[in-house]
Parts: sequence; structure tokens; C-alpha cells
Amino acid sequence: MTLWYVVGALVLLVAVLVVVRVLFAAEIRACFERDPAARNLVEVLLTYSGLHALIVHRLAHGLDRLRVPVLPRLLMTAARWLTGVEIHPSAVIGRGLFIDHGMGVVIGETAVIGDNVTLFQGVTLGGTGKERGKRHPTIGNHVVIGTGAKVLGNITVGSHSMIGANAVVVRDVPEHSTVVGVPGRIARTKDRDFLGINLDHTHLPDPLAERLETLQHEIDALERHLKEHRKSQS
Ligand SMILES: CC(C)(COP(=O)(O)OP(=O)(O)OC[C@H]1O[C@@H](n2cnc3c(N)ncnc32)[C@H](O)[C@@H]1OP(=O)(O)O)[C@@H](O)C(=O)NCCC(=O)NCCS
Repeated sequence: MTLWYVVGALVLLVAVLVVVRVLFAAEIRACFERDPAARNLVEVLLTYSGLHALIVHRLAHGLDRLRVPVLPRLLMTAARWLTGVEIHPSAVIGRGLFIDHGMGVVIGETAVIGDNVTLFQGVTLGGTGKERGKRHPTIGNHVVIGTGAKVLGNITVGSHSMIGANAVVVRDVPEHSTVVGVPGRIARTKDRDFLGINLDHTHLPDPLAERLETLQHEIDALERHLKEHRKSQS
């Protein structure tokens, strides 16, 4: 009898995995494309907490749209306990979102996320604390947001942009931009011909250091001129 229970449970598990495989094809593909550590399908289906949070969110979002009370929030609270990812059921999420590592990601109620976005652990898509209504960011397609970055308020991050780790973004970001620092500054507007997802978020420019370097060059040039001027005077 016990054997039949075990077989039944295994069949059920396989059936669930097959359904998930079909319904979340884009999200599973994203795990393989954007995480070099992803080895095989079973591992991804069973161990990727970001994927688990998205599966529960899709169910909760459907119930939320049907105006079912309380249950969507309860589902997402349970998902947060299990995955460390907090997504409000009303948040609108496009296809192919990849949440790497998961823990500490917060996605607010009125956040809108486009297709093929990548979020690393500790990313907050939150409000500034003083707004009502639409108070969370809108993220375009193919955006990469680095670990610990905070994107706050009803702002828009344009498609194909990259937000550096630990940046705090409180202003709109145009398409194809790289933003780093606190508060976030546009460090670069990237090559518009490249339309894929650029995961090279470790080689981001430092606008402050670049500015300081320019100032140092200007000071050196002024000092040189001053010395030459003094020499010519004497
Ligand atoms: C600081 C804060 C309270 C807003 O204060 P505010 O006075 O309304 O801020 P403003 O939007 O008018 O911006 C004022 C300046 O501070 C900067 N700024 C705003 N928030 C900032 C932050 N968190 N870090 C660094 N700089 C910040 C802005 O860039 C702006 O600089 P600028 O004048 O050179 O452009 C808010 O941005 C914040 O950080 N709230 C925390 C919200 C939070 O933790 N949310 C999580 C939700 S899950």
C-alpha cells in the first residue's frame, strides 16, 4: 500500500513538473541563458527559488485580477517564507523574468516589469514612502538590475538598461543606459545596436572617479601654465 502512495506521489510530482515546464518555458529558458551554474532541468525546477516565487506569483496575480480577497496576499506571504522573494500579487510581470539567488528581492504593488528582465538578490522595486497610487517603478524589456540595487518611486527604467549593484535610482533612466552609484547617475548610454541582455555588470564605469580624474588633469594643466607664466615674468 505504502509503495502505491510513493508511486502516486512521484507521478503527481512529474505531472506538476511537466505542467510547470510548459507554462514557464520562457522563465526556465532564462535560467539556462543567464545563469552559468544552471546544469539541468530537474535541478532548475526543484532548486531555483526565484522561479518558485514567479510560479506562485502567476497564480496569485490571476486570483488578484479576479478580485479574490486575502488569498493572493496569503499565497505570496507563503512564497516569501519559502523563497525569500516578496512580490505583491498586483505587480505586473512580463515573460522571461530571471531572479538570480532570490533572497531579499522586493517587488511592490504597482511595479511593472517588462520581458526578459534580470534581477539579482536584494533588489528592491519600491516606493519612496511618500507617494500614493502608482508609486513603484516601471522596468522596460531586457533590463538587468544588480544585486542590492534600489529602484524607488514611479519612475521608468528604459529597455536594455543596466543598474549597477547597490545603486539607488530615484530618477527616470533612458533606454540603453548604465546607471551606478547613490543616487544613481547615468554613467554611459550604450551601443544601441546590441539588443540582447548584457550581463557584464562587473565592468561598470565609475562616473565620480572619472570626473575626479578629469579635474586632476585640468589642475595639472593650470599649474603647468602658471609655472611657465612665472618663468617668463622672471
Ligand atoms: C530620501 C527619500 C525619503 C526621498 O526624499 P525627498 O526629499 O522626497 O527626495 P527627492 O526625490 O526630492 O530627492 C532629493 C535629492 O535626494 C536624492 N535622493 C533621493 N533619495 C535618495 C536616496 N535614497 N539615496 C540617495 N539620494 C537620494 C535625489 O536624487 C535628489 O537629489 P538631486 O536634488 O541632486 O536630484 C526617498 O528617496 C527614500 O530613499 N525613501 C526610502 C524609501 C524606501 O526605503 N523604500 C523601500 C520600499 S520597499
